Amino acid sequence: MKTTLHLTMAAFVGVLALGFSTLATTPAASADGKELYREYCKGCHEEGSPNGEYTPMSLIQDQWTRFFDKKYTRTHKSVIDEKHGGKPVTETISPEDLELIREFSIEGAADSEHPMTCG
Ligand code: HEC
Repeated sequence: MKTTLHLTMAAFVGVLALGFSTLATTPAASADGKELYREYCKGCHEEGSPNGEYTPMSLIQDQWTRFFDKKYTRTHKSVIDEKHGGKPVTETISPEDLELIREFSIEGAADSEHPMTCG
């Protein structure tokens, strides 16, 4: 009886440990968004940039939503991204990547639970 209990405990602890290690190694969706933000946005919007300094926490969630819904295409379709082959920003970033950047920005907005810079 005692052995069985120990085994059960061991199995339980094992499952817990496994659960935690899976949690720790699975990257959050925002990790990809963060990388993408750094790659595709930061170059033009870092500190002191004449284009304006923007990290997720520069705007509140409503402002980011409005930016991606309404302003992004208008403000970036004629901006050439020299770092990624000299095409307009809107043609450089794929819709899938833009969606991740959008999620990351809204998740890290000034009024979110975890305001973020992009490191
Ligand atoms: C190649 C340079 C370049 C890249 C890359 C770039 N931007 Fe911009 N961004 C600009 C310029 C230039 C403006 C100013 C446009 C204007 O004033 O009409 C701007 C404006 C903005 C604004 C202010 C818009 C407004 O008028 O309210 C935000 C927010 C912004 N960018 C966010 C981003 C995000 C997020 C990304 C990545 C998805 C990004 N930018 C990628 C050059 C860039």
